[in-house]
Amino acid sequence: MIRLREVTLADAPALYRWRMDPETRRQFHDTREVPYEAHLAFVRRYFDPANTDHWLIVEAAGEPVGAIALYDRSPDGEEAEWGRFVIAPEHRGKGWGRRSLELLIDHARETGVRRLRCEVLAGNTAAEELYRRLGFTETGSYQDGGRTFRRLSLTLTKVED
Ligand SMILES: CC(C)(COP(=O)(O)OP(=O)(O)OC[C@H]1O[C@@H](n2cnc3c(N)ncnc32)[C@H](O)[C@@H]1OP(=O)(O)O)[C@@H](O)C(=O)NCCC(=O)NCCS
Repeated sequence: MIRLREVTLADAPALYRWRMDPETRRQFHDTREVPYEAHLAFVRRYFDPANTDHWLIVEAAGEPVGAIALYDRSPDGEEAEWGRFVIAPEHRGKGWGRRSLELLIDHARETGVRRLRCEVLAGNTAAEELYRRLGFTETGSYQDGGRTFRRLSLTLTKVED
């Protein structure tokens, strides 16, 4: 029912709506509401041949309902960060966030990642508890603009293990 697929330019309006939702903006480093043109320029940059990010749309029964990304892979490919995680406000609380993250973890493992990193704003209970339930543990924290962000990490076993 839930699958992940590559972002396309046609997803730009939905990504904008999900990311500019006030509750979503509150949870990220950049809390600003940006004009659509700036967002579109960001999405366009994703298609630059030099880009190595992996930005995925979450689909439920063929309908786009969210997004998640894997990026900043280490040169040996064994470590990567994931983020840009959002489920459309009207679809939250249905278990699709959890399923998407499980699929992202499977994808990372299958492509050779051994350590996954992420960050979460202290106080984002829904997200932090979800990450911890899937095995992420805290490795540190830092302050940014008076807010605390926790660093979390998950060690992945090899596919054949
Ligand atoms: C975080 C987010 C992606 C989770 O997606 P979702 O589809 O709502 O999550 P799920 O329905 O799979 O719920 C995940 C878990 O969180 C719990 N949960 C959901 N909403 C919650 C809330 N408001 N408070 C506490 N727990 C909550 C669920 O019970 C579920 O627990 P379970 O897996 O043990 O059953 C979504 O809330 C979102 O887009 N938030 C705004 C953006 C954001 O915070 N992104 C993450 C930045 S680090």
